[in-house]
Amino acid sequence: MAKIRQKSLYICQQCGYESAKWLGKCPECNSWSSFQEEIRREKKDQRIQFHQPVQASPLLKGDEQPPPRMQTGLPELDRTLGGGVIPGVVVMIGGDPGIGKSTLMLQMLDTFSNQKPLLYISGEESKSQVQLRARRLGLKSENILFAVETNLQNLLFLMDQTGPGLVIIDSIQTIGSDEIESIPGNVSQLRTCTAALMRYAKESGTPLFLIGHVTKEGSIAGPRVLEHMVDTVLYFEGDQQYDYRILRSTKNRFGPVNEIGLFQMTGDGLKAIKNPSQLFLDSSDNPMSGNAVVAVMEGNRPFLVQVQALVTKTQFGMPQRTASGIDQRRMNLLLAVLEKRFRKPFGFHDVFIKVAGGLRLDEPAADLGICMALVSSLEETLLPASHIYIGEVGLGGEIRGVSRIDERIKEALKLGFSKIYIPKRITISRDFPSDIIVRINNLNGVIH
Ligand code: TYD
Ligand code: MG
Repeated sequence: MAKIRQKSLYICQQCGYESAKWLGKCPECNSWSSFQEEIRREKKDQRIQFHQPVQASPLLKGDEQPPPRMQTGLPELDRTLGGGVIPGVVVMIGGDPGIGKSTLMLQMLDTFSNQKPLLYISGEESKSQVQLRARRLGLKSENILFAVETNLQNLLFLMDQTGPGLVIIDSIQTIGSDEIESIPGNVSQLRTCTAALMRYAKESGTPLFLIGHVTKEGSIAGPRVLEHMVDTVLYFEGDQQYDYRILRSTKNRFGPVNEIGLFQMTGDGLKAIKNPSQLFLDSSDNPMSGNAVVAVMEGNRPFLVQVQALVTKTQFGMPQRTASGIDQRRMNLLLAVLEKRFRKPFGFHDVFIKVAGGLRLDEPAADLGICMALVSSLEETLLPASHIYIGEVGLGGEIRGVSRIDERIKEALKLGFSKIYIPKRITISRDFPSDIIVRINNLNGVIH
């Protein structure tokens, strides 16, 4: 008979790296003090054993249709999932605490139509708390079953008993298996529980949504390992100070990645945002110096966003540089280009940059607009509110091409912009009105 031996292991809670002894710094992911001891039971007998016979079946047969996608009833969520939920899919939803993950899932349960009961398992909130929220959200469905449960084995039993059409686990970090000694939330627990739940999902064809918390560094707490296991990873992002939320897919075995869904958190739950660009544009009629509009892609969607720059004379000492919503090093680089190539005296000025709505612009396509905003504020000149700037700026001030220009232009036309500055060497659709498009080769075409 196989003997069971207990073995003490140290596991990095960030990336899952295993070591026989405790380490201060993880050699894999370089995080500090991330090792925790976990006990693993091992069978002494290492000989390969044969289990039950396994059936293999043809991969392709006749004209079998792929399983239909089920709509969640929330089009923004369906979009990020690649068109809906497929049977047996395991989706992880990550995000900061309080961002609205539980709310999103509850709303989905209400609109997801299915004959079978839908199961919401909470390891964090009591029934009365969730009930209160469901009432506040105006949920109507009587097809939602709720249970507070943190034990994996009980959970599997419950799912087996109810045969649900969809399961939500809020959160995976609260679930623990009897077979593992460490506390729930540890890497071994997360791995074991997720693997068991995935097996259940695949065998029964039940879609499964796992909610995961995110650490400050932005990874789903501890288990980056989990991201590899599940089929789809969605992140729910947003700024606590603003009420819009972005749902972003970073991994999808059954659809495109980087799709985004947009929501607004209101008094009665999450609402889809129909016209995202309006959210990030200045609606006031008072044009101001330092404002410029750029067109960026978020996932597969074009966004028009206002960038604001404020440039003031430095009173004493070192000039200040503050950027919110763009990388400060990128701003410094653009300032250096403007100073060196166009003799703009930014060296004697404090510079502040802010992106409307708390959005982050990581795309170089915003460079041209940022330069325009900077110079506009420095020289106190107004940029027409109906102009928009698209292009990456090189170190020589040259304007470089950007991806998916047609979609950006289309969005600008839709919102009524009358002049669209784009890089000179770029191919665009012939359908665009030529009097609206201005092609520029270098910053000197717009900055003197
Ligand atoms: P929640 O879904 O509990 O977040 P998570 O599960 O990601 O931790 O969302 C909680 C926040 O959302 C809380 O700060 C209150 C806010 N909220 C609203 O603004 N409107 C609503 O209708 C609901 C239900 C929550
Ligand atoms: Mg929650």
